Amino acid sequence: MKKIFKHIKQLIQIRPKELAFVKGQEMGSLPLIENAYMVVEDGRISSFGRMENLNAGSYTQTIDCTDRIIWPTWCDSHTHIVYAGDRSGEFVDRINGLSYQEIANKGGGILHSALKLGETSEDELYDQSVSRLKEVMAMGTGAIEIKSGYGLTPSSELKMLRVIRRLKENFLLPVRSTYLGAHAVPAIYQGRREEYVQEVAELLPVIAKDKLADYIDVFCEEGYFSVDEMVHLIKQAKAYGLKAKVHVNQFNSIGGVAAAVAEDALSVDHLERLKSDDMIALKDNSTMPVALPGCSYFLSIPYTPARKMIDKGLPLALASDFNPGSCPSGNMNFVVATACVKMKMTPEEAINAATINGAFAMGLESEVGSITVGKRANFILSKPIDSYYNIPYSFGSDVISAVYISGNKLA
Ligand code: NIG
Ligand code: FE
Repeated sequence: MKKIFKHIKQLIQIRPKELAFVKGQEMGSLPLIENAYMVVEDGRISSFGRMENLNAGSYTQTIDCTDRIIWPTWCDSHTHIVYAGDRSGEFVDRINGLSYQEIANKGGGILHSALKLGETSEDELYDQSVSRLKEVMAMGTGAIEIKSGYGLTPSSELKMLRVIRRLKENFLLPVRSTYLGAHAVPAIYQGRREEYVQEVAELLPVIAKDKLADYIDVFCEEGYFSVDEMVHLIKQAKAYGLKAKVHVNQFNSIGGVAAAVAEDALSVDHLERLKSDDMIALKDNSTMPVALPGCSYFLSIPYTPARKMIDKGLPLALASDFNPGSCPSGNMNFVVATACVKMKMTPEEAINAATINGAFAMGLESEVGSITVGKRANFILSKPIDSYYNIPYSFGSDVISAVYISGNKLA
């Protein structure tokens, strides 16, 4: 199969294969070719360039892209799409004035999702997750990380991880799996939290043996897991080859950023509360900070200070955090638009953050995240629009005409 996409109005995010991520000022540029062609062979990008430089060739299919732009699919490096049911009742509680923590304290929150998940069969959980995955793919997500963390017992955590593995096997997009046993302390462990941390650690060899996870995550936060507990789990996981991608600084800055960076975490996610020490810790290393503006929007909590971070030379990735409690949406177009409107990221910065930097934040930078010869042909074809500015500008409209995964148009 050799397909050619011709007369592309703008072919966006063209990068050399050596580039792993962009930071600081580099985030402000988005290399593109106007009036371009792109050739896809066996699911990968095989060449591209200006229309006037296109040589004659034979193709299985020719797609005319006049007035349309192409950009790499969104790389959503932080999701919890495997969950059971929803928490729409809490949504109303919050409208009526309760905070995220108050809802959790009265039996809602993560523990409530864990209860529901425990009562849901593996097949049913898979089916619910499939419909979410299909939904986000149709909205342009072409690589995704998915966490466990609503099991909170060894058997339910393994159930979640097996569901993620099934998604990996049955879908063409790259999926990364993260073990988040330390998402909340289950009710039966109240007062014995160190025993729960030990139980989380004890599952690591089982997970590693069956290759059920690529990464480990910990919700490092007051009322959840301490910095020391996080560091302990990161160290344990390292012994099994799992790097860390952690939840830090969502509600409080308690030292999780510096500790995770010191442990060479792949990413530190949330960062709504960032002190100057946290900013210093993020400088000059290869831990990717990840902002989740959908969560800030939905919970009405502060946004990650993206402008300050980028101006200080830091990199930044954007992800959805799709989960039933703090962000029941995996729409990366909305994430990108919200980053521009609320965090004052430019369209270039936001698109970089949601493509190449998102790919890096889940270890997929050599596969996806840019228009690069040899990378997977995972890209979005727009409807007729003026430029990539319309992606965040037209925030309530669907600007996507088609999503291609490994060169195949989603049905
Ligand atoms: O990333 N903060 C921790 N975990 C999720 C929310 C989980 C939930 O409320 O169900 C998050 O926001
Ligand atoms: Fe999360």
